[in-house]
Parts: sequence; C-alpha cells; structure tokens
Amino acid sequence: MRALLTKAPSRGLFAFCLLVAAWVSAAPARALVPQGQSVASAHPEATAAGIAILESGGNAFDAAVAVSAVLAVVEPYSSGLGGGGFWLLHRASDGFEVMVDGRERAPLQARRDMYLDADGEPIPRASIDGPLAAGIPGEPAALVHIARHYGRLPLSLVLAPAIRLAREGFLVDERYRRFAERRLEALRASPAAAQLFLKDGEVPPLGYRVVQQDLAETLTRIAGAGRAGFYAGEVADRLVAAVQAAGGIWSSKDLSAYRVVEREPVMGRFQGYRVVSAPPPSSGGVVLIEMLNMLDALQATQKPSAQQVHLMAEVMRRAYEDRARYLGDADFVQVPVERLTDPGYARERAADLDPERATPSRPFKPDVPKGADTTHFSIIDNEGNRVAATLSINYLFGSGFVAPGTGILLNDEMDDFSIKPGVPNVYGLVGNEANAIAPGKRMLSSMTPTFVENEGQVGVLGTPGGSRIISMVLIGVLQAVAGAPVDHWVGKARFHHQYLPDEIQFEPGAFTSKTRVYLEALGHKLHELDEPYGNMQAVHWNRENGRLSAASDPRGVGAAWVSK
Ligand code: DON
Repeated sequence: MRALLTKAPSRGLFAFCLLVAAWVSAAPARALVPQGQSVASAHPEATAAGIAILESGGNAFDAAVAVSAVLAVVEPYSSGLGGGGFWLLHRASDGFEVMVDGRERAPLQARRDMYLDADGEPIPRASIDGPLAAGIPGEPAALVHIARHYGRLPLSLVLAPAIRLAREGFLVDERYRRFAERRLEALRASPAAAQLFLKDGEVPPLGYRVVQQDLAETLTRIAGAGRAGFYAGEVADRLVAAVQAAGGIWSSKDLSAYRVVEREPVMGRFQGYRVVSAPPPSSGGVVLIEMLNMLDALQATQKPSAQQVHLMAEVMRRAYEDRARYLGDADFVQVPVERLTDPGYARERAADLDPERATPSRPFKPDVPKGADTTHFSIIDNEGNRVAATLSINYLFGSGFVAPGTGILLNDEMDDFSIKPGVPNVYGLVGNEANAIAPGKRMLSSMTPTFVENEGQVGVLGTPGGSRIISMVLIGVLQAVAGAPVDHWVGKARFHHQYLPDEIQFEPGAFTSKTRVYLEALGHKLHELDEPYGNMQAVHWNRENGRLSAASDPRGVGAAWVSK
C-alpha cells in the first residue's frame, strides 16, 4: 500500500485524472465504489489517525470519530470535547443521509438577557470569556453515537490515537503560538487552562510539548463507559463544580439531559448537482442553498470575474439578511426552511437585484420580543461512505476555561446566540428573536459541512471561519460545479458579504485593481482584510473512473491523503 500525504494534489495528477476520465468515459461501466479512500483534515496527526483506522478495517464513520477525537487533542484552539459540531454522514449501502447534531445547548438556567446589564446593555466579553459563556458540550455524545450506530470498530480502538496523543503530547507550532497569543488573557484567567496551554503564564515556545494527562483520562472513561464517561460520574461532577465555582450556571441535569439529535439534511439542486448540507440549528445549508438558487435564477454562475463578484455579493447580502431575520433552533422556533430553500422564493428574493448597482442593506429591524476557531474534515472510504464534519468550541481556545481534573476546555458557543436583537456577535452577525437565548436551546451556527454530487463526481467539503463559512462553501461548491480540481476548491481567493456590515470583505490581493474600481463604481464598500481566512478540507471522487483526490487548505497546516 502506498500512501500520498500532501497539502494538495498536483496539477499533473489532476491532468492525468482527466485523461483517464476521458478514456474511461468511453467505457460502458461506472466505478461504483471509489478506488481507495481519502481523508483531509486540518492537522497531520488527525489525518494520520483517520488513515490508520481506515487501514485497520474501520469505515469512514469510525475514521470520523478518530479524526474528531485527535483534533480535540492537537487543535485545542479549534474544537474539542468541551464543544460541539455537525457530522454529515452518507452511508453507501442504502444511500441513507443524516446530520448528527452534536451542537451545544444553552444551560437550563440560561435566560434571554443573561449577558445584559441592568440598563439592558451587553456586558463586555461575558458571552466570550469564562464558563458563563459555555454551552453544554455535544461532541462526546456525538462521537459515542456515531461509533455505536454507524461505525464497526470498538470505541476503545477508535479513540486510541487520541488517548495516546493526549498522553504523549504534541508539539507547539507557529499556528498554536499565534492563537494562544490572541487568547492569552482568557487562558491566564483559568489556572487549569494556563497550566495546560501556557508555559509559566506565557505563550509556550516552538516545539514545546503540550501533554494532556487529564484529557487522556477523560477520553479513556468515554472509551470504556460511552456517554456516561462524560455526562455522569466523576467527570460530570468535576465539570459542574468547576463551572459553578467560577461563576457559571451548569447543573448535573444539564449534562445528564444532553442528547444528540439526528436531523434530515437540507437539499438543493444546482446545475444538475445535488447539494446536501447542514439544516438548523445551523444556518449553513439553508443560506448556501438559498444563495445557489438565487445564482441559478440570475443565470449568473460563471460570469467574468468582477461582474460575478458583484452578483455573488448581492446574493450573499440577501441570504445573510434572511439568516439574521428567520434562523434559529427549529426545535424552539418556527424556521421557514422549505420556503427559504425554494427556488421560487429565490427568484422573488433576487428580483430587486440590479446588475449595475449595489443594493444598500436594509436596516435591521429586530422583532419586538414576545416575552477563530473551528475545524473541518472530509472523508470518503472505499465503500463510498462519506463524512463531512465541522466541529467547534467557537472562538480561539473557546472560553479559555478548563475544569480542573478533566482536561476539558469549555466552548464559548453561547456567543452564537443573539444576546440582544440587533447587537452583533464576535463575527459581526446580528440575529433576531428566532436566535434569542432560551434554556436548552441550541445556538444558531454557520457551520456548513456539505456534499455536492452528480452522476460523474462527488465532493465532500467544509471549513471553519465563523460567519464567512457559508460564503466560503459557496465559492467551493461553484468551483466543484465548474469542474475545477479539488485544490482550487480550497485554494481559490475568497470574498464575503454578510448583509451587515454593508461591505464586501476580501482576502489580501483577492481582487485586481480593475475589479475594485468596478465594484466601487457600482456602490460597493470594499474592505480588504489583514489576513487570509478559512481552512477548507475537501475530498473528491470521480465516479467515472473511481479515482479520489483530496486537498487541505494552503492557508492552514492540514494534510490530505489518498490511498493508492
Ligand atoms: O457555529 C458557528 O457558526 C461558529 N461557532 C463557528 C466558529 C468558527 O468557525 C470560528 N473559526 N474561525
């Protein structure tokens, strides 16, 4: 067995695939299963764990659990057992598709105005730093659920790479240092976090080994006892005691009552492709499909670049406005998913779009109340099972709070709620009643794990990036539909509009000066960002010849692998 471990497949390889595809397309039979298997994740250790599980007889779902658990260890700034996520699964044997929703929930004692002061104004950083910012974690329950219902290997085997890495430690790299620097204050405020993730209260030097004995212990308990290893017993007791002692509002009931929910993905059609993505409580799939439908209505999918940017920005503006107005946890509020993903609605919504002029964003009128970092991985196994998973503890290093004796770094996902109608969150997103805080409710997400497929190809993709996740996935899907190789899906320059602020944000150098002049002449405000964003991981299966290819975003340090 030869393995290919790359940042992105070479153009040469792709050209070769095209040649083979051209040759095979003359042949009568299609490859029904991929010739090999593939993993793309944000960290080489996580990709390696996925490979090891696949090569020892596990399927894509086993590999997904192993990759998630390793990411929880080696990317403590991105995701973890103290956080949550969405795992989009496709089972090849019967075509069954489901999204395993392991999103955090608001604690049962949460109140809609819990982050507002006596004057009704937001308390600075209250929903970002410390345990009051933490929702009830869903990742441990989701991993156990996926292993039990979809995997074929014992949980103890699948969690073994993560347990080993937690015990032996991983080495600090530049990325870790950059992210720890940004969250130094929050990490210093939690003695257990400082002890784990800092060295003498400072950002650790390059090559410093981060050992997480308590996390290894907690993972071992989960491997043995399943969800009870986290949501009951000693770990649960320690979590609740530490959160309460530091001003949080978790109770044992919160942990024992946490449940994963299996949800039907949202689905759209675009230029002969089927696009399958995350339903509420993520806004990702709905907004993605609404944007694709509008582009279809405008027949504006591949125009010359500057004009295309204008149309895409206008489409983003409208769909993100609908996100702000209508989206929230559908278990708590009515979310018009069918209407928002309906092509007829997209035609109406795009009717006022002027090809020659930016439409200023309408002011946001909140309802009258009636009463960086995250991670993604993509996997296809040799049976054709697929997983697209985006996992988060929200902001870099989550809330910065570690419960002593557990190794668990808590999320600050509560900031994804609209803490007050019209008040932007850390990503500048505004929200409405639909996304107001309520006990037990899931906060609205932008995570967009996605499949895009037609008879000839299957793509599995997603990325972190807060509010920009959905527009990044849109750009990736358009690349896939245009037939671009998978390294273009993850590498293409990015731009974004999210309704408010009313501006097109773009990566340094993404637009030529001609494009800028054109967009400004149409009335767009342009905002060139200081640094690139996103960390997309994608795999591609050419169904004509069975070949797989994979790519990891060149902006990150991840690794993509295809077996031979
Ligand atoms: O669920 C969400 O939409 C956010 N918590 C994701 C945060 C994120 O992607 C941060 N990454 N840069």
